[in-house]
Amino acid sequence: MYMNFWYAAAESAEITDKPLHAKMLGQDFVLFRDTKGKVHCLSNVCVHRGASLAHGKVKGDNIECPYHGWQYQGGDGVCAKIPSLGKDGKIPARAKVDSYPTQERYGLVFAFLGDLPEAERPPMMDIEEWNDPKWRFTTLRYEWRADWQRAMENSLDPAHTEFVHPSMGYQGGREDYDVPELDVVEHAWGVGTMTKFVSPDLPHEKMKGLKGEGQMEAGSTTWGTGQSVTKLHFSPFAWAHQYTYTTPIDQHHIKRWFVQGRNFRIDETMDAPVNERNLAVVDQDKQVVTRLEPFMTPASNTEEVMVKADAVIGRFREKLKGYEANGWRIDLDKVNALKDKKAFAIPSPARRTNKGWALDSVPVVNPGAVTTQAAAE
Ligand code: FES
Ligand SMILES: [Fe+2]
Repeated sequence: MYMNFWYAAAESAEITDKPLHAKMLGQDFVLFRDTKGKVHCLSNVCVHRGASLAHGKVKGDNIECPYHGWQYQGGDGVCAKIPSLGKDGKIPARAKVDSYPTQERYGLVFAFLGDLPEAERPPMMDIEEWNDPKWRFTTLRYEWRADWQRAMENSLDPAHTEFVHPSMGYQGGREDYDVPELDVVEHAWGVGTMTKFVSPDLPHEKMKGLKGEGQMEAGSTTWGTGQSVTKLHFSPFAWAHQYTYTTPIDQHHIKRWFVQGRNFRIDETMDAPVNERNLAVVDQDKQVVTRLEPFMTPASNTEEVMVKADAVIGRFREKLKGYEANGWRIDLDKVNALKDKKAFAIPSPARRTNKGWALDSVPVVNPGAVTTQAAAE
């Protein structure tokens, strides 16, 4: 799991003036909305005696701990009130929790889980068609007991479709079947492919006849660690674009929002059959991805046999190596070794400038890596 990316934390509609607990990257967070409607995401561990802030109360723009009533400001996580000190008591400088940048887009709340200053943060994947009236969007949410990287590699995998999703066009049994040479397309924060293949008619009654000439174009591209888009072009005119936002809950679980736009059959009555079909496809992936051995993607490609159709997965792994070299990969062995003995926090941007934090930053692989220009100068 990697810090320093935007991760989907919740749906906008879930965030109110009641605190919401969210686990991401193996750490605990609290989300709430302040009096101005702004969403805040803080480290959930009260630095007084470790109580869960998500089980406290929102008081105006602050969150109040349920144990001794300390109040932390949503905007910067600084403690604004310690009732036991009395009205004029001096609040210790170390009485603060990490507060993470947030933004609301596409009906979701995203938190930047890391310490990079704004100018250096990897961008979020855009949904270009979101405001286009010719497109209609539906959103599904699901959780799997799966490794996040295994799940991302599945989204990117150009050779599984015909075996895992036979309704999309099973040709795998044909003698002349192969996956064509794939152009691996790269951008600054991701990798992907687009490829053409023959597919049969879509099975749902109302979706028949959408294809042109039996030729379908499809492919996926990643953004950072947890975002990807799969583009399904059933014909030159009928397109579905599936944007997925995957958040590792912990080492063993993911949550994912699947935001699909379509530019055909955009009347509302088609939402239910579209969602039904998408859920069936998601379940097909789940049956495979939740049973892989080892549970996590192996540390080295030599522990698998890679063939040409796996090239894009190889490139995705190389991207991750780059993020690891930046010092963004969480060192799970160290975190697990200290389980129950030590609480950590994902470092927030304020740690770059402020000292004196009660919780240590979560351990990372390559802790000494230079991750900012400023640090390099
Ligand atoms: S543990 Fe939070 S106020 Fe004491
Ligand atoms: Fe799939």
